[in-house]
Amino acid sequence: MRNFQPVLNEIYSNIKKTKDKGIVASYIPELASIDKNNFGIHLRTIEGHEYAVGNYNKLFSIQSISKVLTLTKATSIIGSDIFKRVGVEPSGHPFNQLSLLEIENGIPRNPFINAGAIVIADILVSRLENPKEDFLDFIRNVTSDNTIHYNESVALSEKKTGYKNFAAANLLKSFGNLKNDIDVVLDFYFHQCSIEMTCNQLSKAFYLFANKGKCLRNIVHLTESQVKRINALMLTCGFYDEAGDFAFEVGLPGKSGVGGGIVAFLPNNFIITTWSPGLNKKGNSKLGMQALEQFTTKTQMSIF
Ligand code: DON
Repeated sequence: MRNFQPVLNEIYSNIKKTKDKGIVASYIPELASIDKNNFGIHLRTIEGHEYAVGNYNKLFSIQSISKVLTLTKATSIIGSDIFKRVGVEPSGHPFNQLSLLEIENGIPRNPFINAGAIVIADILVSRLENPKEDFLDFIRNVTSDNTIHYNESVALSEKKTGYKNFAAANLLKSFGNLKNDIDVVLDFYFHQCSIEMTCNQLSKAFYLFANKGKCLRNIVHLTESQVKRINALMLTCGFYDEAGDFAFEVGLPGKSGVGGGIVAFLPNNFIITTWSPGLNKKGNSKLGMQALEQFTTKTQMSIF
């Protein structure tokens, strides 16, 4: 069994010395006041060993990381029919870019850009009896943790300022790719983004992607073929117009959020979650990316 603690400690001391910590997302007002000195890493091996440093037990806003979990829930309900309404290509554009959506007749490039995630939210609003409650139950289930919750002030803060998401939803509606009421779908979407989790909890939630579709409690949520596809989407689209760079520097599938979290994993091996709230120009955690680059370089453990 490999002891990952020394390498995490080494990365932690390197990162703590880095002066440029990026910029905290301020377009969601509730996130603007998060201290960018927070930094944590948590690693869980497939056998269940855990290693961690820094603020790995502090809650933060998972934001777009939630898009992998909504896609998982939608896949478990309707399977590949999802891809009649959303594509599987990287967009090469920022997560909230809209012009492609109009050019491509309301079919978002992939489920991780905002427009794509709004279509997935629409599917869940149609299919779940109590969408917000049922989705939260699903996350609590895969993590075996009933304390996970929505942050209502973050959801409200984004509802008040989410002009581009309203624009995306309106465009989708105009092309017939949104079945439910715009306000209802966006209320679900803003809530999924507002979920708070720690690095530790996220490593648990993403266990199923490293473990062929079975969560920590050994329950099958996705078939092996479905996991293969979702993992491929994380590799190619998980970091928006920086997905190429993340594959190049880090070499793992993963997903980021504007709350500063990143979850990445080596299938059949480990899940690693970082949190550092300062973002780079592409909206991904600046120091989180650096830490993960150091991790796969030092350990020589990547999918390549
Ligand atoms: O919709 C938004 O803009 C945010 N709730 C989520 C964006 C996000 O996390 C992008 N990821 N890096």
